Amino acid sequence: MEKITVRFTLNKEPVEVEVYPNERLLDVLRDDLHLTGTKEGCAVGECGACTVILDGKAVTSCLVPIGSVEGRKVVTIEGVGANGHLDPIQNAILKNHALQCGFCTPGFIMSAKALLDENPDATIQEIRRAISGNLCRCTGYEQLTIAIYEAAQELKKADNTKI
Ligand code: FES
Ligand code: FES
Repeated sequence: MEKITVRFTLNKEPVEVEVYPNERLLDVLRDDLHLTGTKEGCAVGECGACTVILDGKAVTSCLVPIGSVEGRKVVTIEGVGANGHLDPIQNAILKNHALQCGFCTPGFIMSAKALLDENPDATIQEIRRAISGNLCRCTGYEQLTIAIYEAAQELKKADNTKI
């Protein structure tokens, strides 16, 4: 198999990589682009540790062949937050002590961000559904759910003050 050039947008910047088309997006992010915030847990799409946002949807990057990413938009945990400030989801996770080892945290944040970007009025049930593909073996899910709900309220408040 020949290497190909794949061009896509990564965290709002254009990138170009020379890769085999069946390489996993997860490996290209971590090994070629040195963005190691995206984690590898199960490698079979079950744990959510490798979640990134692809064209607005949360996906498990261990199941995405890089060849399918041509021309698309990818956001990783490194693209969350701006100008040295944490995103409201990150702040709420810290405030609610919703992490311990932190291995699962980037994946949860990406799933939550994809949800709140699309639906800032997300209910607790919708939050639970959005993070149902993310596994955490230390903290449990209640604090994470509360944190994401609080972040949604924060985002709505910030949005209302813009009017
Ligand atoms: S490493 Fe991709 S879902 Fe577990
Ligand atoms: S905080 Fe350790 S796996 Fe979730």
